[in-house]
Amino acid sequence: MADPCSFSSSSRCLTRHLHLLLHLDFSSHVIRGKVQLTVEALEDRLSVLTLDTRDLDIHAVTVNQQPVHFSLGPRHSFKGTPLDITLPSHLSRGQHVIVEVTYKTSPLATALQWLTPEQTAGKKQPYLFSQCQAHHCRSMVPCQDSPAVKHTYYAQVSVPRDLVAVMSAVRDGQETDPEDGSRLIYRFRQPVPMPSYLIAIVVGDLESRQIGPRSRVWSEKEFVEKAASEFSETETMLATAEDLAGPYVWGQYDILVLPPSFPYGGMENPCLTFATPTLLAGDKSLSNVIAHEIAHSWTGNLVTNKTWEHFWLNEGHTVYLERMIGRCLEGEPFRQFKAMGGWKDLQDSVNTFGANNPLTNLVPRLEDVDPDDAFSSVPYEKGFALLYHLEELVGGPEVFMGFVKSYIQRFAYNSVTTDQWKDYLFSYFKDQVDVLSSVDWNTWMSCPGMPPVKPQYDTTLADACIALAQRWIKAKDQDLDSFRESDVTTLSSHQVIEFLSLLLQEDPLPLTHVKKMQDVYNLNAFTNSEVRFRWLRLCVRSRWEDAVPMALKMATEQGRMKFTRPLFREVFHFQKFAAEAVRVFLTHRAAMHPVTSGLVAKELKVDVGAAQ
Ligand code: BES
Ligand code: ZN
Repeated sequence: MADPCSFSSSSRCLTRHLHLLLHLDFSSHVIRGKVQLTVEALEDRLSVLTLDTRDLDIHAVTVNQQPVHFSLGPRHSFKGTPLDITLPSHLSRGQHVIVEVTYKTSPLATALQWLTPEQTAGKKQPYLFSQCQAHHCRSMVPCQDSPAVKHTYYAQVSVPRDLVAVMSAVRDGQETDPEDGSRLIYRFRQPVPMPSYLIAIVVGDLESRQIGPRSRVWSEKEFVEKAASEFSETETMLATAEDLAGPYVWGQYDILVLPPSFPYGGMENPCLTFATPTLLAGDKSLSNVIAHEIAHSWTGNLVTNKTWEHFWLNEGHTVYLERMIGRCLEGEPFRQFKAMGGWKDLQDSVNTFGANNPLTNLVPRLEDVDPDDAFSSVPYEKGFALLYHLEELVGGPEVFMGFVKSYIQRFAYNSVTTDQWKDYLFSYFKDQVDVLSSVDWNTWMSCPGMPPVKPQYDTTLADACIALAQRWIKAKDQDLDSFRESDVTTLSSHQVIEFLSLLLQEDPLPLTHVKKMQDVYNLNAFTNSEVRFRWLRLCVRSRWEDAVPMALKMATEQGRMKFTRPLFREVFHFQKFAAEAVRVFLTHRAAMHPVTSGLVAKELKVDVGAAQ
């Protein structure tokens, strides 16, 4: 089964190790790189080897130190450009060669965002970060850029002395660059085989602080203290995850807080989770994102989806484990509450994509689909809903967690498809094959829209949110004086988020209602990013003009796509301000992450590719 998103044929050869030499040039936004790939032939008479690249400038290729012929194929819109390398002699099955590629990245590499000093908190030094998942590693390193391929890596990174480099690996010391005394070389080793999408690098004016026996937080110094207290539960979560899923094999578990333009909430880079600063709520209420990234240490990083069509194996199991960690730390009602919120996120994604859209299938076909365009809550929450449904069928959380742990041990260090997962499920529960056969597998896996079964979650923690939302939905103008500040001050941040999510599922409230809500609850003063995001969307939907500049401010001051894309979309659909949304986007575009700006441009119907 081929990977529709990669030109490199992982059925014919596999990269086992990758040795990286990177020289960062902040003035030209270019990485000069040399990569040595240890490649094993999987078949006899192997004569050509294809690597993935995207916008790379290839200077030279050698195989076992001999210069060889290479050619670049036509450029594909999102897959990039295949690099065909002619082997000096035919390889036989099992044979290893070292392929060395000398290259330069493009300043527009989609995996990278180069920040000017003005775009950082410290304002003095530039900054670089990478985001390779799903298919962007190829714009930073020529490689077999498919999650079916796993390898170890070693890296040496040369940077200006004032900057610090970290990677998704164990730190292995540093030394002055022998070729330039004004630079340092940082070394890293990743001894656990992992897919290319987990290669990650950050270079900036970084500091760190220990927060646990195997954990540090990293960020610009302005955020270190806040991050250390926000993420103080890290070791407890790690230990809980080990109880549930087995030993943590990656040694270190550090967290790096990125600048606000980081496009995701979190990214499970091995040894070094990347996190958006929008998690710094002050009350640890968004720590489930850390539980989620910790969980990926097993589901995703140890057991990996074979292609992006099986992405739900990564994310569905990770959400399941994340909520099991939440269950251990906060109790079952909390898990039920979060599961219910997840169902709503799934409903939102299905509404946005359309209930007949094949991208809402749990296992979508991604032939000629850019994984960034396919991204949504579906693999997360339809995946979770399926696992929760199975949990109920086979005997509850302990029983089903036994399966998940066994699945992890069975497929550790490998990449798997949905069929392999399902076969293992049936063999693990061989005494309950009848129950499993009663599941409507075809609808769950291969049909669009909401799942065939809606789980009945316990509403203990949601009841207060549901009741309050209902009061607002039903309120006539003369009822508005019945609302009190204590309606929300008695709720947890989780519940305020849920209350707003419930309102967002309904028709827009009358403008009088949201204005009154502001008067009584002062939601404008809430700094929790998940609260603010939902509140501003609600206001814009009710056509409150005062909220438009606040929504656009949030959309541009941070760049987490989960917030930025819907905020731009919401203002764009407020017809009077559609042009303003486009204007603000165009003003900020150059400072945005390349993937975020590409996706927002599509949403605002701005001529994609015209600028940049
Ligand atoms: N691996 C994902 C982020 C990702 C997915 C990046 C696909 C690029 C392509 C990460 O683990 C994730 O799911 N993050 C979520 C956390 C949430 C579900 C708790 C996020 O960013 O919001
Ligand atoms: Zn995830």
